[in-house]
Amino acid sequence: MPEPMIEAVSLSKQFGRIVAVDDISFSVRVGEVLGFLGPNGAGKTTTMRMLTGYLRPTKGEVSVCGINMLSDPVKAKAKIGYLPEGAPLYPEMTPSTLLRFTGQARGMGGEELANRMDAIADQVHLREVWDQSIETLSKGYKRRLGLAQAILHDPQVLILDEPTDGLDPNQKREVRQLVRDMARSKAIIISTHILEEVNAVCTRAVILAQGRIVADGTPSELESMASDHNAVSILLPRPEASGFAQKLQGIASVRTVQVIDREEDQCLVQAYPIQGSPILKEVTDLIRDQKVSILELRQEPGRLDEVFRNLTLPAEETIQGGQA
Ligand SMILES: Nc1ncnc2c1ncn2[C@@H]1O[C@H](COP(=O)(O)OP(=O)(O)OP(=O)(O)O)[C@@H](O)[C@H]1O
Ligand SMILES: [Mg+2]
Repeated sequence: MPEPMIEAVSLSKQFGRIVAVDDISFSVRVGEVLGFLGPNGAGKTTTMRMLTGYLRPTKGEVSVCGINMLSDPVKAKAKIGYLPEGAPLYPEMTPSTLLRFTGQARGMGGEELANRMDAIADQVHLREVWDQSIETLSKGYKRRLGLAQAILHDPQVLILDEPTDGLDPNQKREVRQLVRDMARSKAIIISTHILEEVNAVCTRAVILAQGRIVADGTPSELESMASDHNAVSILLPRPEASGFAQKLQGIASVRTVQVIDREEDQCLVQAYPIQGSPILKEVTDLIRDQKVSILELRQEPGRLDEVFRNLTLPAEETIQGGQA
């Protein structure tokens, strides 16, 4: 396994009496895109600000490509590209002047910087506003400019705080693709409130709640924690639904069955397994034996929004399996 490019050990941050980040540890390697999920105030931005050296941890250590952020911040920061939350600074500058300024501050210059700026203008689609003042840019263009600033020096580690926030759907897709492409040679952390983004770009995700990591796994590992993981949904004509549902309930590994009325004289029958174990074979065998004329059949991976809710809300507001 490759060495971790970014490593956090027992990171904590306290603001007065607020514990914003509470003893979290993780590492990210080349090829990984780690997603930070969590409700507002969970500690995602605070963690990212500590990882990038903009905020001093109350406790714990950060290292970037083996360099300690606290004892060697200049060298460690040089390895990182950071897209902070919100809009870029210097509203009176233009994308072109801001990127030149950023590049020079990073020690770039001459032809190298000119070529890099040229490539980035196309990569994040900034060409059409290249010489327009930043304060007049739309939210999406400001976000793209922030991204351009973060990747300008082609850093080995990227920390992107809600990179697709404010972008239109086409741009969201392009930025996700860009992140996936860059991941081949970098270690990337992104935060997001868009759960679909987890499947679309992340190789792994952590869910944060009140400053703690409450889940850490691949997208499918997280989905498998949902109450509908491996549930089987069958769409069929209404007259056949209740008889079939009864037969389904008779399968030993089926915990519960729901029948939901749909339009056009159809019903959706959902069978939930005991402890998320696969039941697809038993269900398809039954369909064949009973000669049921099904219209659709689907095995559920598990709903990430439910897992998210159950891990981040107080216990009385969580969802019970099969009743969602
Ligand atoms: N500079 C600060 N001073 C005091 N409290 C702060 C400061 N920065 C963050 N906090 C608090 O720390 C907690 C975590 O905030 P943080 O911005 O890290 O959350 P987040 O997960 O990024 O939320 P969001 O999804 O809204 O961006 C919140 O309670 C916040 O109010
Ligand atoms: Mg935040």
